[in-house]
Amino acid sequence: MLSAESLRSIDREVSKYPTDQKQSAVMGALRIAQQEKRWLSSETIEEVANYLGMPPMAVYEVASFYNMYDLKPVAEHKITVCTNLPCALSGAVDAAEYLKAKLGIGFNETTADGKFTLKEGECMGACGDAPVMLHNNHKMCCKMTTVEIDKLIEELSK
Ligand code: FES
Repeated sequence: MLSAESLRSIDREVSKYPTDQKQSAVMGALRIAQQEKRWLSSETIEEVANYLGMPPMAVYEVASFYNMYDLKPVAEHKITVCTNLPCALSGAVDAAEYLKAKLGIGFNETTADGKFTLKEGECMGACGDAPVMLHNNHKMCCKMTTVEIDKLIEELSK
């Protein structure tokens, strides 16, 4: 069950749209649900669907289309590495390889201690700051050299 706080946040998203268009808030509602639960289980998707008066399959279609939504459990710290072309041409491939080796995991994997999940992401709109990574969908990490990666992992490991 989503918390009362999350439901209030979803209500705020819903209030941005006409009263007969609650489903327009589906992306915001999924973001809020994922923020609370860390990932979107079928139960959470169904709860969001019921809250917005939508068929669960329609909500699942949205959740499975965008790669910021996680349909499987992820670690406390999810790091998404942009590997689109501008970043790839500016060191993202090497940065991703360094991060994989440092954590001992590949993309879509989680470290044995459950602390880190690594994901591959699409352009985050900050190509000029490549290599770019996103922490838990919210914190943008720019110009991620090996030194910056070391700092980030050390900070998150505390
Ligand atoms: S290609 Fe990586 S942020 Fe745009």
